[in-house]
Amino acid sequence: MTVHTSLLSMIGNTPMLKLTAFDTGPCELFVKLESQNPGGSIKDRVGLAIIEEAEKSGDLKAGGTIIEATAGNTGIGLALVAVIKGYKIILVIPDKMSREKILHLEGLGAEIVLTRSDVPEGHPEYYQDLARTIAAKTPGSFLANQFSNPANPMIHRTTTGPEIWEQMDGNIDAMVAGVGSGGTITGLAEFFKEKNPNIQMVVADPEGSIVADAVIKGSFSYDGGSWLVEGVGEDFIPDNLNVDLIDDAEVVTDKEAFQTLQILIRKEGVLGGSSTGTLVAGAVKWCQKQTSPKRVVTFICDTGNKYLSKAYNKSWLHDNDLLEVETAGNVTDLINRRADQGDMISVSVSDT
Ligand SMILES: Cc1ncc(COP(=O)(O)O)c(C=O)c1O
Repeated sequence: MTVHTSLLSMIGNTPMLKLTAFDTGPCELFVKLESQNPGGSIKDRVGLAIIEEAEKSGDLKAGGTIIEATAGNTGIGLALVAVIKGYKIILVIPDKMSREKILHLEGLGAEIVLTRSDVPEGHPEYYQDLARTIAAKTPGSFLANQFSNPANPMIHRTTTGPEIWEQMDGNIDAMVAGVGSGGTITGLAEFFKEKNPNIQMVVADPEGSIVADAVIKGSFSYDGGSWLVEGVGEDFIPDNLNVDLIDDAEVVTDKEAFQTLQILIRKEGVLGGSSTGTLVAGAVKWCQKQTSPKRVVTFICDTGNKYLSKAYNKSWLHDNDLLEVETAGNVTDLINRRADQGDMISVSVSDT
């Protein structure tokens, strides 16, 4: 077995698993475990590519500061590479993001600026606007900008796509991916459409996001929708998303996504992050609509270890109405934490 001399050479070359627990109609469904990257997500690839391209172009110089607006995983990818290569990093993060990701970033030594999740593009506290403001004020800074940086789709075109092609022996009919920056699906579409234009590119999109409408109807208007899954779904079309290369879309509710995560862990033993629920649920729905056998690939985009206090916490799922609960038709239905279900413990004064 290989001995690595840097964590950077352990990014990519992630394994592929065939799922068996879901009803996929006539299709076979495979997942690429991007959760196995050193930083725990698909974004390690992007962090490495953006920094190395900026080093080559001279946009990032020794002693420089990397700045990014990120939902967390791109920040972890960038911070991981920054720490190994000796750069400072400042990350602007919307406040809905999971505590585990923020603590991971703090552990890596990143400077974190938390900002509001509930403001639109153009607002000074919108995470991307705030990152631009900080970059303009910071000498020697480099704004990574995953939303328009061409290194983002490039790394999926040159590594993720070819790995999938090899793992599937070139026998693949459809790819299902989420859209955050658009880098994954655009890079993969560029690779796969050149190999075989009949390979279908499908977006799995959270309910409330505009991407599915942009793909299916060709137009969209954002109506203030929000969703609990992290890292996928948008209220605008990023520069790195080439909608023309996408063939189809499936809309997935938060409830479907979080329930899919439960099946994944209980039946397949796979601990996926929240967007994995969206992707696998979207892929299963798409598979069930097919009338002929197809080989379909999607991602375990990041590890569920980043979401233990949310996606795998029964109280949080209950509070957000994400659990399918049996109703008794009486007042017990109004009780959030039920002692008979082990959600509540009680002590009396004599219990010392
Ligand atoms: C956590 C996470 N972030 C982002 C994305 C989307 O990637 P991109 O930013 O390349 O569109 C995904 C899944 O595809 C994801 O799971």
